[in-house]
Amino acid sequence: MTDADASEGDEPGGDGLATDGLSRRDALKAAVAVGGAAGLAACVDRLDGEEPIPAGDGADAHPDRQFGWNDHIRTDDAGNWLVPRHQTLLYLSLPEDGPPSDDDRGAVAAALDALDRAYAWSHEGLLHSAGYSPQYFARFEGSLALPEDVSLPEPGPLADYETPEFDTQDVLVHLASDRPDALLAAEEALLGEREEANGVSVPSALTDALALDDRRTGFFDPGMPHEKADGLSGVPDPNPIPEDAPLFMGFAAGFRGNQATEDSVAIGEGPFAEGTTKSVGNWRQRLDDWYGEQDFDQQVMEMFSPGHAAENLVEGVGTNLGDDSGIDRFLDTVVDDAEEYGRVGHAQKAARDNRDADGNPLLLRRHFESADDDIASLHFPSLQRSIDQFETVRRSMNGVDATEATPAVRQRVNNGILEYIFLRHRGYFLVPPRSLRALPTPDGSEG
Ligand code: HEM
Repeated sequence: MTDADASEGDEPGGDGLATDGLSRRDALKAAVAVGGAAGLAACVDRLDGEEPIPAGDGADAHPDRQFGWNDHIRTDDAGNWLVPRHQTLLYLSLPEDGPPSDDDRGAVAAALDALDRAYAWSHEGLLHSAGYSPQYFARFEGSLALPEDVSLPEPGPLADYETPEFDTQDVLVHLASDRPDALLAAEEALLGEREEANGVSVPSALTDALALDDRRTGFFDPGMPHEKADGLSGVPDPNPIPEDAPLFMGFAAGFRGNQATEDSVAIGEGPFAEGTTKSVGNWRQRLDDWYGEQDFDQQVMEMFSPGHAAENLVEGVGTNLGDDSGIDRFLDTVVDDAEEYGRVGHAQKAARDNRDADGNPLLLRRHFESADDDIASLHFPSLQRSIDQFETVRRSMNGVDATEATPAVRQRVNNGILEYIFLRHRGYFLVPPRSLRALPTPDGSEG
């Protein structure tokens, strides 16, 4: 079944623009998942009469930080940042061994520069970034010029049971927009399927230098997980996802107070200053027992902390928490909670190692959901100054101390949400500053 088929059973949405039984919203998100010329054609038909997409000011006028999104995206009533509604991840590699040529670099630079002229740096235009894997930098003889406090190792398992496919492609290009027509046209231009985007000529394509290895898509908006859930592998029937939830697991995430700032994840010095590191995991979700065996309080215990359930801190999907999950009060009680309640919380475990010396979060999580391959999954991009910070936080989620405290908490049972999520892919990337985003050399020189 294709993604487009999956949405045919959906009720028309509430935007009042439903046509032939498929709401405009359904059609657009299906178009992104389908992609390519077919997706774009469907999309453009539906968008007839839509506002024009705002044009960009060019690369020099857009932020040095490719990940500088927070000032350019929507926020909710509490001030939490909302990542764009539609997102695409393109994994690409150089087809030959060895470092890229100047021609390769020129082609990638011209393709990405064109996007900055074509689209405003905003959720209403297009946000994008290019990241490079450790395997990419291994093509060169010199070593990667990162400050001492920044690491970019090859990805590996971070728990005994993790058996993902590691993403070792050279390049990850991440595209994000509230406008699916912008997202699809930008993708087509990057892949050499069109020569203009939003009225701007695109002189070269990424595929003049790189081969596309994988394409993954996703979405982020309250209501979309419920709308997409019917027939998805991993979601029980009848559809239990709350209608206002931004995540398949039924809760809101990414509270401002629980997120690192862009300043704090930026690399501070050297040629890659104003860059960052990015870990991207893809987690399959199997939610039969989450919805079939856990009542609401048990879900709150496992997602946040037992204290959140005992004090009734979470209502519905949890937006009542405002701009902070309140988890900091429960960081020291993981073992006590395991013994008293026989359960520990996902946020509680992870947050323990997600704090700098002043108590501020280290990771900037920008996750979004996916229905690729008709499977409910979460794409989990996380930005942090150094990959070792991500690895420490992920290991903290293993809750080994809780498993040692009581037999009720096991490796993957009653141990946060580990019973319901399964890692399919993991990759690590350096996201250079915008000026070095086209096939950089390891010391930032022109090559
Ligand atoms: C399907 C998978 C996942 C879901 C549904 C999920 C959901 C959530 C929710 C609802 C919270 C509490 C609210 C918030 O602070 O945002 C949270 C917290 C957190 N999650 Fe996840 N998460 C998932 C996977 C992961 C993974 C793979 C990591 C890897 C490191 C992670 C790291 C964190 C951290 C560090 C926090 C605590 C933030 C703090 O420091 O306060 N999550 N998550």
